[in-house]
Parts: sequence; structure tokens; C-alpha cells
Amino acid sequence: MPTSAPAPGSVPAGASARDVVVVGGGIVGLAVAWRAADAGLAVTVLDPSPGDGATRAAAGMLAAVSEADFGERELARLNVASAARWPAFAADLAAATGHDVPLLRAGSLAVAYDADDLALLRRVLALHREWGLASAEVPVADARRREPYLGPRLAGAAVVDGDLAVDPRAAHAALCAALGPALVRRAAVRLERDAAGRVVAVHDGAGARHATGAVVLATGHGMTASLLDGVPEVRVPVRPVKGMTVRLDAPPGLALEHVVRGTVQGRSVYVVPRAAGTGTGPGSGPEHREIVVGATSEERPDDRRAEAGGVFALLRDARALVPGIDEAALVDVTPRARPATPDNLPLVGATAVPGLLAAVGHGRNGVLLAPLTADAVLAALTGAPPPDDALSAADPRRFAPADRPADSPLPEGAAR
Ligand code: GLY
Repeated sequence: MPTSAPAPGSVPAGASARDVVVVGGGIVGLAVAWRAADAGLAVTVLDPSPGDGATRAAAGMLAAVSEADFGERELARLNVASAARWPAFAADLAAATGHDVPLLRAGSLAVAYDADDLALLRRVLALHREWGLASAEVPVADARRREPYLGPRLAGAAVVDGDLAVDPRAAHAALCAALGPALVRRAAVRLERDAAGRVVAVHDGAGARHATGAVVLATGHGMTASLLDGVPEVRVPVRPVKGMTVRLDAPPGLALEHVVRGTVQGRSVYVVPRAAGTGTGPGSGPEHREIVVGATSEERPDDRRAEAGGVFALLRDARALVPGIDEAALVDVTPRARPATPDNLPLVGATAVPGLLAAVGHGRNGVLLAPLTADAVLAALTGAPPPDDALSAADPRRFAPADRPADSPLPEGAAR
């Protein structure tokens, strides 16, 4: 806790009933809350349905290299920095709670279905080389030796040994356990400011006032529209990008061990396995495992509808890469919206308003970026320097209200 004048985001010493209120209990909000609580701050998290947003759909690839995309170099830097924090984050969480938070460490195989897909894969591998990210093209036969469940018709393959994966639902459950009664199942509806403009309390949907030294917005895309009504200096331009994942229960005959990502006639698909014993289908046994197939990506709100065509397309493309999924049971289809920003970079750290911080807009990378976001927000709360230089690209103050074009309506549910 600081003892001198607080920095814009930081908690004033001894000033509050709770040091921090985190609004939003997805994996990012809970990671922030847990790291803050672990550092000795008094924390409350407000969320009527914790973990039921993008966290619920996420497959859990911690794929800083495989997610690297053209024009997103700063995001790749953030992703690399956060991926490096995941092993310690998972180990600390497991030690704190007794919940197992295992990481899949076998790496990713990036595969191409046809010649055009291979041309794209090679352009991506060249981008990796340019950015110093470790990946390597290998003969398809080598990829198949590593992962015998790859399909017979592939035009090319590459290995990304550094990619990890985690079960986001298991990690979220462990975070809920770590936070215990600090997690309050109510919506935040209004921020209260004092005469100097500092945010000093959050009001919840049940009429309770939570006095606090700092508020961290970790709201995903579905922020209560009124929450920032009294805070015109802060703009949170998050839009929903709907995605859908499918969970399968794979029998022992499909002991997939690598994340398989691929392009099938120009369409992206990924297949993420868990360890044996994670299957959840009817009649599932200790040798069964969960396999997550993802993900669709549509610029529209989360209507919680799992369109048959979307499920069909995902499974069609996934079985082109891993035909054995035909034998798996379909156990879950989860559509949700990712919270995306105009530049695809998250908003992490102090805002222009004292006492208000952001941990929002993580788009495709909420699970991956949770540890770095948590460490960055804790640093901002305590007046410490940012834990990684890459975080300068995620400064929430880059979206000033004056930048907002007057004629750019956002979809319903999106927050300014
Ligand atoms: N992180 C992968 C996705 O959002 O689909």
C-alpha cells in the first residue's frame, strides 16, 4: 500500500472500506482480484454470473506464437509476455487452492489443408521469423509422427513448441475458490465519484454501496450501459465479436496430445485436447478426454444462439484435420462474445479518472493475457512500475472521448 500521494489509479492509503472493487468476474477480473488479494489488498468482485461470458466459451490456448497475426505486433508482444507468466500463475493458483490447474505443454501443430492454405501458413511462418517467434515448418510425415491423429490429406505442417494450453473453466473455478466470499453475485450499476472526481464507490443492483479506494473495470463486452454515465472522461470502446466453441468427449481411441490449428480452404479452425480423465460425456471414463473445437468469429453481439450452420462448419473443418473426432460425443456448444477494441489491444491500467482502472477489451486473448493483466493492474494499484514494457500499448488513455466519431453507432450492449 502506498503511503504518499497516490498515482492516478492507485489505492489511497487506508482510505477505503475495500481497497479494490473489481467489476466483472471472468477470468481477467478474477485474476486481477486474486493477485490483488494475494498482495494483501481487501478485494470485492461484483458479477451476477461470474465466468459466464467469454471465459465460458474460451478453449484455453495460451498460444502467443500461433495467435500472432499480421498488423498486431504489439499484441504479440503482450501475448508473449503473458504466456511466460502462465506456468507460475497456474502453479501459484494450484498451491493456493488445492485445485489442479494443469497446462498442456506438448505445443501446437499448425497445419494446412490445401496448397493455398500452405501458402498462407508459410507467410505466417515468415512473420514469426521477422518477429523473433519460434516456429518451424516440418514435413507432414514428421508432424504425423508427433501426432498420429492428423488426417491423411494435409498439404503442410509446422510446429510451435512453445504454445501452452489450459482449461479456462478449471482455472476460473480455482480462482472462484481462491476468492471465496470476496466474489459477490451482483451486478455493478453505478460508479460514485467524490467532489474531486475520484471514484469512491460502486453501487450494485441490490442497492448496496461498496465504498472503495479503486475500481477495476473487467466487464467483458456486456458492461451495464449506465455504469460509465457519470464518467465522461473515460471511453471504453469495446465491441462484441461473437464466437462459438464445441466441446467433445473423446474415447480412448482418440488420445490427441497436441493443439492442432489449421486453415481449411481459407477457414481457421483449432482443436484443443485436454489430458485423459477430463471427458464429460455420458459414459465417460478415465481414459476419455475433453476436446474443444473452435471457433467461429462474427462481428455481432452475443445472442447465445448456437446456429446449426456454425456448428456444422466447425466440425466439418476440424474433422478434415483430425478425422477421429467423428467418434467423439458432442457434449457442449457455447456461443459467447469476445470483448474487442478498435485496435485489438486491451485496455489495461489506470484511466484518466483517479480511482478507476481498466482491464477490458482482451478480444481473442483474455485467458492468455490474464496473468500479465493481473500483474499490471496490481502494479497500477500499488504505485509500482508496469511489469512489462509491452504494456504501454495497452494504456486505456489512448481512447480519449474526443476521438469518438459522432456518427459511429455501436451495437446494442456495447459500451462507449
Ligand atoms: N483465442 C481464440 C479465440 O478467441 O477463438
